[in-house]
Amino acid sequence: MKNCAIILFAMPTLTACSSCPDLSSLRSDFIRTSFDSAKLAGLFTEQVYFDIAQVGASCQTLNVTSGEDGLSMDFSVKYGPIPFTITELYTPGKEVGLYSKNADMPGGKLLTLPTVLVDVEEDYSAMTLYSCLEIGGQAVRELVIATKDENVDDTYVQELVDNALAAGVDIEPDSIKKVSCK
Ligand SMILES: *[C@@H]1O[C@H](CO)[C@@H](O)[C@H](O)[C@H]1NC(C)=O
Repeated sequence: MKNCAIILFAMPTLTACSSCPDLSSLRSDFIRTSFDSAKLAGLFTEQVYFDIAQVGASCQTLNVTSGEDGLSMDFSVKYGPIPFTITELYTPGKEVGLYSKNADMPGGKLLTLPTVLVDVEEDYSAMTLYSCLEIGGQAVRELVIATKDENVDDTYVQELVDNALAAGVDIEPDSIKKVSCK
């Protein structure tokens, strides 16, 4: 983590360093001690993201269902040239809040992204998901912050982003995109 920060300060254009943080260490106390995955179920609207795969998307939603074998999220893009839905599967890992994420589509099984639920609000109205995978000396990162209420104010979203960064999400703040629903 320390090396990572130094690299980010030294080269502001470099969006990411090549090693992933220890995902389990990013979890909030609430996730560690009180998280109940059944309560997460519901329709979320993405507020901000960092994800190469989502560039150009708008109005992304995640419909979360919780079952025996983990979480399932229907990821939908409402507008744009091709509205679509894919199902992402989150298989629980060794510790609460840790998952292996797979997209349930042809070829999707090839990429499994280690993912951590960094935090949820105590009423399960917001969640912060971060994934990081090292491939060939590079790290692939994803961040999604989503809320059940589609319309939340910018100050609140910024607070969630700041909390994610403080928790150890190593993504340059300027690269975190706001979701647009226009
Ligand atoms: C979300 O998933 C639930 C459970 O599968 C389903 O009943 C509901 O219609 C879905 N909502 C949307 C907006 O797709």
